Amino acid sequence: MKKILITGGAGFIGSHLAKRLLDEGNFVICLDNLYTGDLKNLTPCLENKNFKFVEASVIDPYFFEVDEIYNLACPASPPHYQKDPIFTFKTSVFGILNALELAKKTGAKLLQASTSEVYGDAKEYPQKESYFGNVNPNGIRACYDEGKRAAETLICDYIRKHDINAKIARIFNTYGPNMRLDDGRVVSNFIIQALSNNDITIYGDGTQSRSFCYISDLVEGLILLMQSNYQGPFNLGNPDEFKIIDFAKYVIELLNSNSKLVFLPLPSDDPTKRKPDISFAKEKLGFNPRVTIQEGLKKTAEYFTELQKA
Ligand SMILES: NC(=O)c1ccc[n+]([C@@H]2O[C@H](COP(=O)([O-])OP(=O)(O)OC[C@H]3O[C@@H](n4cnc5c(N)ncnc54)[C@H](O)[C@@H]3O)[C@@H](O)[C@H]2O)c1
Repeated sequence: MKKILITGGAGFIGSHLAKRLLDEGNFVICLDNLYTGDLKNLTPCLENKNFKFVEASVIDPYFFEVDEIYNLACPASPPHYQKDPIFTFKTSVFGILNALELAKKTGAKLLQASTSEVYGDAKEYPQKESYFGNVNPNGIRACYDEGKRAAETLICDYIRKHDINAKIARIFNTYGPNMRLDDGRVVSNFIIQALSNNDITIYGDGTQSRSFCYISDLVEGLILLMQSNYQGPFNLGNPDEFKIIDFAKYVIELLNSNSKLVFLPLPSDDPTKRKPDISFAKEKLGFNPRVTIQEGLKKTAEYFTELQKA
């Protein structure tokens, strides 16, 4: 039985990862300050004797004797990470420093949840891991983008200096159950608006593109990377790409909604095109996202329908 620490384990991705790792017979510790996470996401885990929840911030040093660390702690949705940008930046940078120190002390393997946002408003398309990105270091997204870029820098320096076993996953837009009702990211926004027949809000003219990965595919990719001998960075996501306006129309049709489209100004530094090149992860990790957008959206809509009833 492996002992595995997940920071940010009460959040959207962390809670699915915790459940999957418990189901595989591991001992799982979730460390989370519940900033955007919710203990309700961990309901299927809390009664398992091989599960432990610790309420703490990754900004402060911590110690657990573990074999693996998944460092996921960080608010991920723009409204939440922009609410307190200094906290967000500290979470990324002090959070990874504390995780790296733990990996150094214990010899644990470490996987960092990095992001497609390290590519910024990418000038390369689709984005490959070799692309250095186009990030505005002074903008309102920088607390997140630059925090994650700095975290990658620290990981690579710890590998070179201290020979630790660390891996970088660059996660592209992922969606599914356990997202918050007020998450604020496009998939959950559109589903919630369509379910209530409210206007669907499109920022800009809707010609910007995004690619969406269902949560179970992403979790599979994270575990494949942790089990591999590779360091990465690896892009993990689903390369099926949609223009936002087409995606909104698709959600309306799929959920038989009467919602209308309304257009709002585009926030600054919003990336125009987002599509991962996952050929490296396919070849080296055997990563192959399988869940179709139709299947994934239906499961997510079922979840939000239940949540709205509660
Ligand atoms: N969901 C995506 O599409 C996506 C895309 C790219 C990267 N990521 C990365 O994956 C990770 C998880 O994202 P998510 O979508 O599950 O977001 P989330 O907001 O649902 O989860 C983040 C979790 O981290 C916790 N947290 C925040 N600050 C903390 C701190 N200082 N100390 C301890 N816990 C803290 C929150 O309470 C929450 O439970 C994040 O690091 C995010 O940057 C997610």
